[in-house]
Amino acid sequence: MNDRRDFFKKIGLLGLSGLAFKLVSNEQLSALEALGHQAGNSTPFTLSPLPYTYNALEPYIDEQTMLIHHTKHHQAYVTKMNETPSTNIDFQVDDMTKCRHIDQYTSAVIRNNLGGHVNHTLFWTLLKPNKDAKPNLPSGKLAEAINRDFKSFEEFKKQFSEKASKHFGSGWCWLIEKDNKLLITTTPNQDNPLMKVAEHQGKIVLALDVWEHAYYLKYQNKRADYISNWWNVANWEKAEELYLKK
Ligand SMILES: [Fe+2]
Repeated sequence: MNDRRDFFKKIGLLGLSGLAFKLVSNEQLSALEALGHQAGNSTPFTLSPLPYTYNALEPYIDEQTMLIHHTKHHQAYVTKMNETPSTNIDFQVDDMTKCRHIDQYTSAVIRNNLGGHVNHTLFWTLLKPNKDAKPNLPSGKLAEAINRDFKSFEEFKKQFSEKASKHFGSGWCWLIEKDNKLLITTTPNQDNPLMKVAEHQGKIVLALDVWEHAYYLKYQNKRADYISNWWNVANWEKAEELYLKK
């Protein structure tokens, strides 16, 4: 039960209050556990609206891409989770949304689709409109930490862009805090650095979706151009909020 409380604490710390995870009461959970997690009382996962309009990130990320990314791709992860037989889902959802345990499950459906739901929900919050094309730079404690660990923002930007560009196939590029140090890392598919399966585990500060569905309509095969433009709409306020959370 404490694990369950830890999960909700962690999700809260990530600022993922919009996530529509199954919120069963402790009593319900106890009942489910007593039933060996066989109960199928499903509350559906839902797709939360974006915190901005679909065209708000133009000209850097186009409206059609955002619309399809959110209403088709993200929705598909949500739908697949809801289609997953509910016999084990109460236990798995509860445990897997802690992310650290996702890899304990053999179900690729759960790992990929719940991972996709978590990653995209976070990703939307880490983007923000920049209609005036203002310089978009981190500030405060996060800027200090970036300068400390990468020598300069430009050097960090170069390393992050390179890592994201070179990631093979579908996946994500992350800025994480690990052992009190910032680190750039990537994960395949819908894995993330909160999962034990990740090469580097740590606190997520910044996320970039490098799946082709995130950029192909506008940028085709030019992932590097997508990344180059994404820097204009990275939400540094949200990134610093994540960085400062204990
Ligand atoms: Fe995506």
